[in-house]
Amino acid sequence: MLIDKHGRIVDYLRIAVTDKCNLRCFYCMPEEGIDFVKKKELLDYEEILRLVDLLAKLGVSKIRITGGEPFLRKEIMGLFRKLTRIKGIQKIAITTNGTLTHKYLDELIDLGITSFNLSIDSINEERFNQITRRDYFAQVMGCYREMLLRNVDLKLNCVVMKGRNIDDIIPMVALGKNNNVAIRFIEEMPFNGKGAHFENLEWNHHKILNHITSAYPMISKLKDPQGSTSFNYKVNGFMGNFGIIPAYTRSFCGSCNRLRLTPNGTIKTCLYDDGVFNIRDLMRAGATDEQLVTTIKEAIGHKAKDGFEAERQRKLNPNISESMASIGG
Ligand code: GTP
Ligand code: 5AD
Ligand code: SF4
Repeated sequence: MLIDKHGRIVDYLRIAVTDKCNLRCFYCMPEEGIDFVKKKELLDYEEILRLVDLLAKLGVSKIRITGGEPFLRKEIMGLFRKLTRIKGIQKIAITTNGTLTHKYLDELIDLGITSFNLSIDSINEERFNQITRRDYFAQVMGCYREMLLRNVDLKLNCVVMKGRNIDDIIPMVALGKNNNVAIRFIEEMPFNGKGAHFENLEWNHHKILNHITSAYPMISKLKDPQGSTSFNYKVNGFMGNFGIIPAYTRSFCGSCNRLRLTPNGTIKTCLYDDGVFNIRDLMRAGATDEQLVTTIKEAIGHKAKDGFEAERQRKLNPNISESMASIGG
């Protein structure tokens, strides 16, 4: 079992398979993109599978594939097919921007992959295109509808931004009225590839919840799943539900069960750290499985108490400036 010094069991691995993206959500990546990882520096599928296999033996049972946009990585379905065969992996989930996803949906569902977190920051075309700086609204909404039709376990991710999509909050909550969907409103974090710093985040989780309750006073708190980032609610009588993710306020770290693997093989024990070590380098230098396990266990042993401690302990880049695409969310 993987357990840290605060007694938290790590059983959830998030793998960012690429930092490339065909959108440019301005809270994530600058218009000109970032310094993308070169092909030979990317963890290859054999390396990813070796790690997942090792981690599954140590108790990891859930994997999330993220990016960048995972469906931009070549032959990604080949990776999914092999991941589903790894003993011990009970759940594979995907975070995607929905631009390319629909054509893979049926095969994914056949493979037993039915959990999707879809990024939709606005259901208004003009605002959506302004936020993403591209023109994919129809494709993304089409993907959303295809997912609803297939009744998958569907969450929508909406990063709340002053001056950008506040008018979307209430209409997005309303999507849950007749649809089996969870809409999650996320506090904006400074991982935008430029290094913006927020002294005060105006649209924090309190303000988001107050805003929602002013339109829908009749809401009930739901029981949050173990390790959940979102605090979840239901508008009474609605089919779906909504959640708020205090990603910047970081009030869920006490139950964190996550480990992250970035596209270039950096292991992160917290979203806010700047990388603990590079496991690709170890593997390519010929490390044995035992050596990899020892290094991973040591890193997890030292997992920061929370995102604030991880941020204070950053070594290489004291100020956050990386893009979420190179971390995997
Ligand atoms: P599940 O609980 O498996 O559904 O995952 P998730 O909701 O964390 O996944 P997703 O990739 O959809 O991320 C949603 C938002 O939560 C994104 O903005 C993430 O960056 C943020 N988030 C995910 N994990 C963490 C974390 O460990 N710390 C913080 N502060 N934010 C996180
Ligand atoms: N702050 C909060 N959430 C972000 N995401 C990307 N960048 C940020 C940011 N700066 C979200 C995306 C995606 C998830 C993986 O992370 O919207 O849904
Ligand atoms: Fe792409 Fe996701 Fe970043 Fe938007 S948030 S630019 S969809 S990786």
